[in-house]
Amino acid sequence: MKTYIIGNWKMNFTVGESSLFLHKLLQKVPSYRDIETVVIPSLIAIQSLSLQTDRRKIKLGCQNFYHQDFGAYTGEVSIAQVRSLVDYAIVGHSERRYIFNESDKDIRAKVAAALRGGLTPILCIGETEAERKDGETADVLRDQLLGGLGDVSAEDISKVIVAYEPVWAISGHGKATVASPLDVKDAFKLIRKILKETYGKETAEETALLFGGSVKSTNAESYLLLDDCSGLLIGGASLIASEFTDIIEIAKRVKDERP
Ligand code: 13P
Repeated sequence: MKTYIIGNWKMNFTVGESSLFLHKLLQKVPSYRDIETVVIPSLIAIQSLSLQTDRRKIKLGCQNFYHQDFGAYTGEVSIAQVRSLVDYAIVGHSERRYIFNESDKDIRAKVAAALRGGLTPILCIGETEAERKDGETADVLRDQLLGGLGDVSAEDISKVIVAYEPVWAISGHGKATVASPLDVKDAFKLIRKILKETYGKETAEETALLFGGSVKSTNAESYLLLDDCSGLLIGGASLIASEFTDIIEIAKRVKDERP
């Protein structure tokens, strides 16, 4: 399986800044066949970046979309409208769940829409600090995972990426605590177990699990070394070219050194 290094730019950079930043990345980012590098800019920038990027080096994704293809949905953008521009689509990010009140039902419809449109959904799940303190982590992860995957068949599950992003570890909302590799290992174990129960052992092994939450070049290796880790979903550090490219190099080294 490839290692995914994915930068979620969130609501940062103007269109011009996005283009300049991608230009810088394209000069610095090496093209490794076993590392999939993806950047996920603001929707407004994806058309111009899709013309600018070299997809063999850096692929694109979208941060959000509506599950219907076309119609009277003012302000929304559909998979049918972005599918020729991007390869990946984030679904169920905690910022969408908690700031924009997206429900598991919305998220389920989006995962299905992304698959229907031929894009790879990156389904984000993760507990809040309060849920963790109350011992609800396992229940929350199960509910969000099965809630989001409700309409996904065993045939399609290998086309979905699951990202564990504990809300308490995500930067940009005040205080964030860095997750220990052990925290992430436990969550991956649980996610894999639920996938196996739902889709069968072999099929479940094909689903890539990523970690996201305050990942930087200084801690990336500790997560990438986890057996079940197929990559990282990076927010803040993906806005700094040297950090992002350093993380790609670390991922390559970890991959090469893996037995
Ligand atoms: P940070 O890396 O800034 O904590 O963000 C993680 C994230 O939410 C990526 O989707």
